[in-house]
Amino acid sequence: MTDIISPAADLAADTSASVEIVGLGKRYGPEWAGTQAVAGVDLSIASGEFVAIVGASGCGKSTVLRILAGFEEASSGSVSVGGAPVTRPGPDRGVVFQDYGLFPWLTVRENIAYGPRRRRLPRARVNELVDRFLAAVGLTRFAATYPGQLSGGMQQRVAIARVLANEPRVLLMDEPFGALDALTRSDLQAELKRIHLETRTTVVFITHSIEEAVFLADRVVVMTGGASHGVPGHISRIVEIDLPPQRDILSPAFTEYKRTISDLVHEPVAAA
Ligand SMILES: Nc1ncnc2c1ncn2[C@@H]1O[C@H](COP(=O)(O)OP(=O)(O)OP(=O)(O)O)[C@@H](O)[C@H]1O
Ligand SMILES: [Mg+2]
Repeated sequence: MTDIISPAADLAADTSASVEIVGLGKRYGPEWAGTQAVAGVDLSIASGEFVAIVGASGCGKSTVLRILAGFEEASSGSVSVGGAPVTRPGPDRGVVFQDYGLFPWLTVRENIAYGPRRRRLPRARVNELVDRFLAAVGLTRFAATYPGQLSGGMQQRVAIARVLANEPRVLLMDEPFGALDALTRSDLQAELKRIHLETRTTVVFITHSIEEAVFLADRVVVMTGGASHGVPGHISRIVEIDLPPQRDILSPAFTEYKRTISDLVHEPVAAA
């Protein structure tokens, strides 16, 4: 997607990438005794798009994300980011999990600076990135604090800022707000939405909350199946969320999307 010329848009083009998943299958264990976790997953995500993945436990959401991250190898099919096949983890993809994974012996500032420093960016650029994303997640005043002194929500903010400071072209998030209380969670959802509108980084976001998916995403991918159903996990439907960026979770249209997706998630899994 390089159809834009203004400096700001150039930046956007540079900070996001498309994702292409074709015929993806993953088998854990040997052919004769393993688990076919997912099969036949096809998904095209445009550069800058925000896609949420929902579906019952065990349907293979994390498996797909780990393959995108390059932590896990596909058994069949292919996955590419920005046109390049994924074979290993890389700085083009930033990953945020439910547990924050911060370095407890580093301050908030040092945690966020870790990636940019490893990339050997000039000191001024490192500081610029750290300051920008500290501000974006509202933690400027806590720069010198250690993670252990922060609440769970604040630690997750640091984890997000740390990943964003690496300027990934795709942000992969696996239930990043799953462990947070409802209030902190809705704050972080709003923050993530704002950051996404600003950076235009492509986002793939796994959640168990249908409301969160409808609030954040341009499209919601519904997965179904999984080992416990005797059918490999797969995509059952993709729902486009045709709502403005600022969404009212109490509006009839929003509620209707929630109902539609909830029905899809709870649909009985077809037998193999
Ligand atoms: N490392 C592994 N070894 C063997 N089987 C695995 C492994 N990881 C996942 N699986 C199996 O693959 C299937 C999909 O797991 P996955 O973690 O992708 O599901 P999920 O949709 O993320 O579920 P949840 O919502 O509970 O996080 C499950 O049947 C699981 O048991
Ligand atoms: Mg999972």
